[in-house]
Amino acid sequence: KKIEDQILVIFGASGDLTARKLIPALFNLYRAKQLPKNFVVLGASRSDMSDEEFRDKVLLKSSYLNGNGAEIDEKLLHDFSQRFFYEDLGGTYDTEYSKLRKRVESLKKSFNTSGNIIYYLSTPPTLYETVARRLSESGMNTQNNGWKRLIVEKPFGYSLETAKKLNQGLQKYFTEPQIYRIDHYLGKETVQNLLVTRFSNSIFEPLWNRNYIKHVEITNAESVGVEKRGGYYDKSGALRDMFQNHLLQIVSLVVMEPPIGNHPEEIRNEKVKALKSLRIMRDEQTLFDNTIRAQYVASEVKGEEVKGYRQEDGVDPSSTTETFAAIKFYVDNWRWHGVPFYVRTAKRMPTKVTEIVIHFKTPHHQIFMDSGVNSKDNKLIVRIQPDEGILVKFGVKVPGQGFKVERANLDFYYSSLSETYVMDAYERLLLDAMQGDATLYARADEVEAAWEFVDPILDYWKNGKDVRMYGYAAGVWGPENADDLIDDNGFWRNPGEN
Ligand code: BG6
Repeated sequence: KKIEDQILVIFGASGDLTARKLIPALFNLYRAKQLPKNFVVLGASRSDMSDEEFRDKVLLKSSYLNGNGAEIDEKLLHDFSQRFFYEDLGGTYDTEYSKLRKRVESLKKSFNTSGNIIYYLSTPPTLYETVARRLSESGMNTQNNGWKRLIVEKPFGYSLETAKKLNQGLQKYFTEPQIYRIDHYLGKETVQNLLVTRFSNSIFEPLWNRNYIKHVEITNAESVGVEKRGGYYDKSGALRDMFQNHLLQIVSLVVMEPPIGNHPEEIRNEKVKALKSLRIMRDEQTLFDNTIRAQYVASEVKGEEVKGYRQEDGVDPSSTTETFAAIKFYVDNWRWHGVPFYVRTAKRMPTKVTEIVIHFKTPHHQIFMDSGVNSKDNKLIVRIQPDEGILVKFGVKVPGQGFKVERANLDFYYSSLSETYVMDAYERLLLDAMQGDATLYARADEVEAAWEFVDPILDYWKNGKDVRMYGYAAGVWGPENADDLIDDNGFWRNPGEN
């Protein structure tokens, strides 16, 4: 797809996300010659900085550039930095943008970028609507001389109500097709590959339903704790930070019906339908039986003392914010009726990993029972990260007399395609927005449908009677009680196990 000349205006340009994610992604796109010929970046924020200082901070002296594994070419970096500019908003985002507008106009002329502009909101979320309003007041949202797009970072809302308000707030100044809500998990290759695995093969889709699937399990684990983000995290928790967005996005791709084509709206329509079919848990007993939360407690991991969550900087010592969340739920539609979904996410696990496990039913009539192995189910495991790939576990005959059955692996590693340049999530998402492709961005109704499912759980955890908070030692797979969610006395499958 052709990529038009444009300006990228980053609000919150002196922040962590800009330095850590956006700029390295832009530099890698530049190296890969993916950016348009006439392209500039204008950073805007409350800090007082010159263009040179901005270039130094985010590019020339940055420790975040990765060059996608290759050595960084200093000349290339210097050339790229000449396209970076900075505008101080004078201490607040809620201010007149006429100076900013003039700056944009003059960059447009000197770099011949035409009037296409992306506004990237990497500010605290409380400012999203303010910035949109100020842009509109200065006439910077009009599309009569080039398109205008607004990229909004997460978190998108704090609850269903706040997400709705935010949607309405932004839609006063920008139309829905102009708004791109980032969920960086959608930028991950293996998440996108779910669509291809399901809908470009004929061997999976016929089995992808209640007739053949026993249950679906999704694990998202991180070995780190809350790091320096205790203040933010304590007001958020695992359910808001990971589950409402990233994990429900993955769920929607597993659950959705085949779209009629690959147009962004066709795919997003099916995702919304999927999210709307999640059975909302309303009564306390259901919530008690199907949700587990926990916090990591101090312990020793690989010989090192690790703080408990409540001892982390910025965290209330009596906090009831979860760092582990496990949810069991059902999907009320024809395809998935009666199939349990188990989804968990947590910090301070033994390793960093995200994977989906589709557990198939065992054959109805078993003729090789002697070996005992036949009773195990087939599994399709989608490794989102690390070791991106797909694994099918199936039974094979052990050579020799009799019919002893053993599990074998059909294993595909994404790295075997490594001659192709694999874009990082932010690279992919930025490029898509630059091209006006919103497939991998969350639409307003998707975000709201996800909150609708999550809200009652959050409310129950906050206000319910008999809500438990378990503890787990940092470096283990969460509290043992999480296994209580799994039917038939089952266990969570810890990644790497058979
Ligand atoms: C972010 C969360 O959205 O995703 C973080 O706010 C989390 O808490 C991160 O660490 C995980 O992303 P990834 O791509 O490293 O799995």
